[in-house]
Amino acid sequence: MSPTTTADPTPTDQTNVADRDKARRWREGGSEPLLRVRDLRVTFQRQGQEPFEAVQGVSFDVHPGQTVGLVGESGCGKSVTSLAIMGLLPQRGNKVTGTVDYEGTNLLDLSDQQMRDKRGKDIAMVFQDPLSSLNPVVPIGLQVTEVLERHRGMSRKAATPVARELLDRVGIPDPDRRLKDYPHQLSGGMRQRALIAIALACQPRLLIADEPTTALDVTIQAQILALLKELVEESGTALVMITHDLGVVAGLCDEVNVLYGGRIVERGDRHDLFAQPRHPYTHGLLASIPRLDAPRGQRLTPIPGSVSDNLPWTSACAFAPRCSQPIEVCTQKMPELEEHHQRALRCFNPVEATR
Ligand SMILES: Nc1ncnc2c1ncn2[C@@H]1O[C@H](COP(=O)(O)OP(=O)(O)O)[C@@H](O)[C@H]1O
Ligand SMILES: [Mg+2]
Repeated sequence: MSPTTTADPTPTDQTNVADRDKARRWREGGSEPLLRVRDLRVTFQRQGQEPFEAVQGVSFDVHPGQTVGLVGESGCGKSVTSLAIMGLLPQRGNKVTGTVDYEGTNLLDLSDQQMRDKRGKDIAMVFQDPLSSLNPVVPIGLQVTEVLERHRGMSRKAATPVARELLDRVGIPDPDRRLKDYPHQLSGGMRQRALIAIALACQPRLLIADEPTTALDVTIQAQILALLKELVEESGTALVMITHDLGVVAGLCDEVNVLYGGRIVERGDRHDLFAQPRHPYTHGLLASIPRLDAPRGQRLTPIPGSVSDNLPWTSACAFAPRCSQPIEVCTQKMPELEEHHQRALRCFNPVEATR
């Protein structure tokens, strides 16, 4: 055997190879989802108040190598959905039902210890606010090596050069010096990169990113998104991208789920959905952002009102009070999410298809 022959792949490397194959099969139209969320509901019990159902029956799939977006205005249940999937909601005061099937295991049935093992090893999450997710009193390098030691069984000595390589990979300049830095010594963009390096250290098969670029300026945003895209393409990682920013979705997601008031109101292929939004809410979201392909002089139209105007889903369409084209039935009963032609839509009076 020549000395240049690479060592046997570790189990995680083998998984990544398998995920790359599965990702290819998914693109060709025939693989099982890695994550299958069905009828996920989260209810918060609030003292002296009615229980509040923040997530009301959300279902979606994510395949290896696929990037699925969860999009909607602030307060529509995006973070609560991701925290429920990760088993990170506070222990008390909430009820989570439905299934979160990860390769045949319902994550909602796992014990705290089992879920801790899954997090980090199989599933990782990147949050909006990197400062609160990093440990302020531990140098960045040590935070990366700890993950490598815990989840990949490396020694500290073996982990250090890998940590250095990871910092380099996420674009942190001068990684040797940065390994010793504490979180407060890094800029916001660098902290988010460090957090992504920690997530990558686990070689997760599923990454949930909750507004990972919202706190960053535009150029750093673009770099972080490019990094995530590379990760998905290179290792077949499944990515759930949570954002209120349709620009992020446009550049990254294969499939988009639009949430309103804790329910999915529209789902479709990204190109298709952007070209032809059918739900008045999706239509409104798209009309309220600047687009390079818009005719010159076209005005941006914000969606009137706010989520506090919502009607209860159980008896109406929650969006009806803000809708540009409500009809009588919209305030009388709840529209169901109906699928046709690769599009799911929850609306009694959708925007007319022009194609
Ligand atoms: N721990 C909690 N207790 C009570 N209500 C909560 C809690 N966390 C979130 N909520 C409520 O759930 C709804 C969805 O929140 P969230 O998922 O954070 O929205 P976003 O889409 O902006 O991420 C909001 O109305 C929020 O106030
Ligand atoms: Mg959120």
